[in-house]
Amino acid sequence: MSLLKVCTSLFFLSSALHAQAAVTQEDFSGTGHIFVLNSSDWKTATPNSKVGCLDNDGAFILERNLSECGTFVRLRDYPWTLSSTQGNCTFDNDKTEKNTDSYYGSQDHAWSCIPHYSAIIYDELYTIDGFPYPFLCSGDINCYYDAKKIPAHGEKASLWPFRWGSQQWGITPGHVMLQLMWQKLDDDKREEVAKIPSPRIALKDGLQVPLQGKQIK
Ligand SMILES: *[C@@H]1O[C@H](CO)[C@@H](O)[C@H](O)[C@H]1NC(C)=O
Ligand SMILES: *[C@@H]1O[C@H](CO)[C@@H](O)[C@H](O)[C@H]1NC(C)=O
Ligand SMILES: *[C@@H]1O[C@H](CO)[C@@H](O)[C@H](O)[C@H]1NC(C)=O
Repeated sequence: MSLLKVCTSLFFLSSALHAQAAVTQEDFSGTGHIFVLNSSDWKTATPNSKVGCLDNDGAFILERNLSECGTFVRLRDYPWTLSSTQGNCTFDNDKTEKNTDSYYGSQDHAWSCIPHYSAIIYDELYTIDGFPYPFLCSGDINCYYDAKKIPAHGEKASLWPFRWGSQQWGITPGHVMLQLMWQKLDDDKREEVAKIPSPRIALKDGLQVPLQGKQIK
C-alpha cells in the first residue's frame, strides 16, 4: 500500500470514529427529557437502546407518548441541578424506595423530584466532554443506573445509582443496568448564561475508562 493510501484509510477510519459529534457541556443545558437506555457499556449505547424515560416525579416509565415523559430544566447557575414541574430532583429523598436487593446500594434511595427541596451540588447530574451522546452521570463519575426491571406501560420503576464491589461486580442480580441520556427540547433563552463547569475528565480517543463509579470496599 502506498503511503498516501495508508494515510487516506487512516483518515477515513478516524473520520468514521468522529462521525458522531462529541458532546460538550453545552449539550446538557436548557430544557429536555431524560431518556433511559438499556446499557452496560457507554461505548455501544445509542438512542436506539432507549427503553423508557423519567417522568416528572423522577420515576422510570415506559411512555406511550413522549408527552408522558418529564420535562426537566437544568439550572444554569450553581449547583446546575435538574428540576421538573414537581420540584428539584435528587437521589437523597429518604421517602423513596431503597435498593434493598443490592449488596452495595441497599441504602440508596430512588431518584425523585420533590416540592420545597433546595438542591445541592451533590444532586447534580453531569455529562462528560467527548461522549458520543449526552449521557448523564452522577456522584464520583458513575454513569450507570439500576432498576428492578424495565416497566410496562402504566408502571413506575425506581431508579438508583449503579454500585459495585468485590461482593457484587455487576448489576444487582435480576435487575437491569441502565444509562440516562439528555434529549434537549429547548435552549436556555437568557442572553448572558454562565458556562457550566466540566467534570474533571474528558474522553479522548482510545481512553478506556469504565465510568462505573468507585469500587466500594
Ligand atoms: C436489555 O439488555 C439486556 C442485556 O443486553 C438484554 O438481555 C435485554 O433483552 C434488553 N432488554 C430490552 C427490553 O431491550
Ligand atoms: C402525544 O400527546 C400530545 C399531547 O397530549 C398530542 O398532541 C400528540 O398528538 C400525541 N402523539 C401521539 C403520537 O399520540
Ligand atoms: C431548587 O434548588 C435551587 C438550588 O438550591 C433553589 O435555588 C431553588 O429555590 C429550588 N427550587 C424549589 C422549587 O425548591
